[in-house]
Amino acid sequence: MGLRKKIKKFFYTRKFSKKDYLANINNKNILITGANSGIGLALTKKTLALDNKVLATYRESSKNLECIKNKNLTIVKYDQRNIHEFKDLEEKIKETSIDLVFNCAGVFGGSFEDQQIEKLDFKKFQEVLMVNSFSILKIMQIILDDKSSTKNLEILINISSDAGSIKLNNQGNAYIYRASKTALNSITKNMSVDLNDRFKTIVFAIDPGNVQSGMNPGGQIKSEVCANLIIDLISSNAQSLNGKFINLLGEEIPW
Ligand SMILES: NC(=O)c1ccc[n+]([C@@H]2O[C@H](COP(=O)([O-])OP(=O)(O)OC[C@H]3O[C@@H](n4cnc5c(N)ncnc54)[C@H](OP(=O)(O)O)[C@@H]3O)[C@@H](O)[C@H]2O)c1
Repeated sequence: MGLRKKIKKFFYTRKFSKKDYLANINNKNILITGANSGIGLALTKKTLALDNKVLATYRESSKNLECIKNKNLTIVKYDQRNIHEFKDLEEKIKETSIDLVFNCAGVFGGSFEDQQIEKLDFKKFQEVLMVNSFSILKIMQIILDDKSSTKNLEILINISSDAGSIKLNNQGNAYIYRASKTALNSITKNMSVDLNDRFKTIVFAIDPGNVQSGMNPGGQIKSEVCANLIIDLISSNAQSLNGKFINLLGEEIPW
């Protein structure tokens, strides 16, 4: 890594380093999607360590989740491309009564090059929209169908991306990823009005920044730091976050 890159990384990681994290989340039933890697896996480990019960979903392999030996962890397969194959997830949700949802599942949708207008694969596009955007609506349908979860649901956090911000877009390209995150943002904002009105649920979107993960192996901050900051944010003043699109420091990002 060149010196300029090293300096940039130093200042970037310093921006997100904190000595003490608030962590007042315990005794909750938490649903985490995309939990077998990256941010979802880090949130799973962190929330389990704080004595919560976690229902963790995965797409295909659950190998990282299987390594966590904790009686409070339940693992269930839910491929968010096939949203109609939800019976196993539904069963688990009905057993649990969810208090918090961290919706982490996401895909980039192919290389930057494959996401140029000329090369767009519309089947892929639809698939990514299903995973990154629409599937959270299906998950919410299942939760709303379960009356005890509806009553309990305190917080829903969608892990979005600043690539979905219409205002901040000055680079173009990445049509699939950007559109899917913009759609997720729109759904988030809508739910923050709807679900907050009906059930007082706090709904917001987070851009996690540049995090080392399956999607971004060269990311600059560790997924554990990201998880700590997300827990810190909801521990300090979750009420104030409803309807917002924020970064890991709680600073607002334009939709
Ligand atoms: N890392 C970053 O720098 C960054 C920046 C901005 C936003 N984000 C967002 O952060 C979220 C978490 O990503 P990450 O960085 O932690 O990357 P990651 O390690 O790749 O995690 C994404 C998770 O989503 C799961 N997933 C993919 N397709 C799925 C499907 N069809 N059904 C269910 N789950 C599926 C993946 O499962 P498999 O492992 O089985 O594929 C994986 O566990 C994503 O929404 C991403 O867009 C990340």
